[in-house]
Amino acid sequence: MLETSGTFQPGVIEEIQRKAATGLYAIRGYGTLRERRWATFDDLTFLPCSLTRIPLEGYREKCSTKTVLGTRHAKKPIELDIPIMITGMSWGALSLNAKTALAKGAALAGSSNTTGDGGMLRAERDASRCLIYEVLPSRYGINIHDMREADGIELTIGQGAKPGTGGLLLGSKVSDVIAHQRDLPIGVDQRSPARHPDFLGPDDMVIKVEELREATDGQVPIFVKMGASRVFDDVKLAAKAGADVIVVDGMEGGTAASPAILQEHTGLPTLAAVCEARRALEDIGVYGEVQLIIAGGIRDGVDAAKAMALGADAIYIGTAALIALNCNRAMYEIDYHAIGAAPYHCHHCHTGRCPVGITTQNPELMQRLDIDEGAERVLNLLRAMTLEIQMLARACGKSDVHHLEPEDMAALTAEASMICGIPLAGTRKVFGS
Ligand SMILES: Cc1cc2nc3c(=O)[nH]c(=O)nc-3n(C[C@H](O)[C@H](O)[C@H](O)COP(=O)(O)O)c2cc1C
Ligand code: SF4
Repeated sequence: MLETSGTFQPGVIEEIQRKAATGLYAIRGYGTLRERRWATFDDLTFLPCSLTRIPLEGYREKCSTKTVLGTRHAKKPIELDIPIMITGMSWGALSLNAKTALAKGAALAGSSNTTGDGGMLRAERDASRCLIYEVLPSRYGINIHDMREADGIELTIGQGAKPGTGGLLLGSKVSDVIAHQRDLPIGVDQRSPARHPDFLGPDDMVIKVEELREATDGQVPIFVKMGASRVFDDVKLAAKAGADVIVVDGMEGGTAASPAILQEHTGLPTLAAVCEARRALEDIGVYGEVQLIIAGGIRDGVDAAKAMALGADAIYIGTAALIALNCNRAMYEIDYHAIGAAPYHCHHCHTGRCPVGITTQNPELMQRLDIDEGAERVLNLLRAMTLEIQMLARACGKSDVHHLEPEDMAALTAEASMICGIPLAGTRKVFGS
């Protein structure tokens, strides 16, 4: 029998040989491939009503999904019809058609979409009902007039797919339009800084938050977004710096391009991140006053409902929304093969040759994504996810999806019990307490 080393498996050998040939580390899109196990939302199950609690009737009894963000300081908090929002994805990483379809789909669903590195796209603003404007360390495309048109400002400290590092846009996507928007040369790789140039830590971040509030006349909420790392302390510092809304993006968070090792070996998984974030807000007495948005690997209404039961007020989706736009769909198969991928196995957003027109600036490929069709599919996904959350909430006897709570769930593994502080199924014990 041929024996394989448990340590130097075929994939490991291939990767060492690739490095030996090129002298380069691997870069890819899409987020972690999760080749090893860690606790996720799958390790929890809901405990619907039977005799101890009374469920609500699906067709007759209301279950509200209205979501309000930014009640702490903003004169005009954000009001959404649903708790699922479209996360910030850069125009540059995404095509114009993808950005516009996401904005349109979110608006049809009564939700929001977010700009990204590289600034705001006019078509995106025009199609949005509620637009969050990201302020990133790179400052690419940043424009005070665009910012003043936004319904919320997101000061981005980091992302789940690459915490502690900056953004990356490979030269293949730096078309003349994108280069012009970012004021950089065409076709050259862009590496964004890891830190904001005008503040270093929480003390001077207070000044930045105030500056953004002043620039927008205190009208709109200021979000602070971070990759999940030392969540318990980072969330407290962001809240103390004056954030109205805190976004925590877990290790499963998507990206268009990031070193593979950062995706697989840095940050906290989303399940752990939401639990730590809630504890942090409770610890300083602002849970409920500062709203919490969770992102990173959210696939459906079940993941979203579990994150909400653990403490999130709303959920950001990125990759799932791209999948709604046909990412990884079995079409144009020759073009998938040309970039070394195949439908269902593609994580090649960094190549700039997305076969379905989402993560590309190539005009021919971009045309493959029809904006209206894409918007309809995003709307349908947001609608279906919201119906799933409502179904679970009603089954747990809740007339508002925001009333879901940890008590509505049991843990299926000792790890999840310990992380979430929820009793292990079949026991009355929280593991480790
Ligand atoms: C194609 C793509 C581009 C992204 N661009 C940005 C960006 O410009 N700024 C940012 O803060 N996050 C960016 N992200 C990260 C998302 O905002 C979000 O944190 C992440 O996608 C959430 O995980 P999910 O994709 O599993 O839902 C990007 C993600 C993707 C998939
Ligand atoms: S289909 Fe496009 S968006 Fe999806 S993973 Fe491949 S390159 Fe990225």
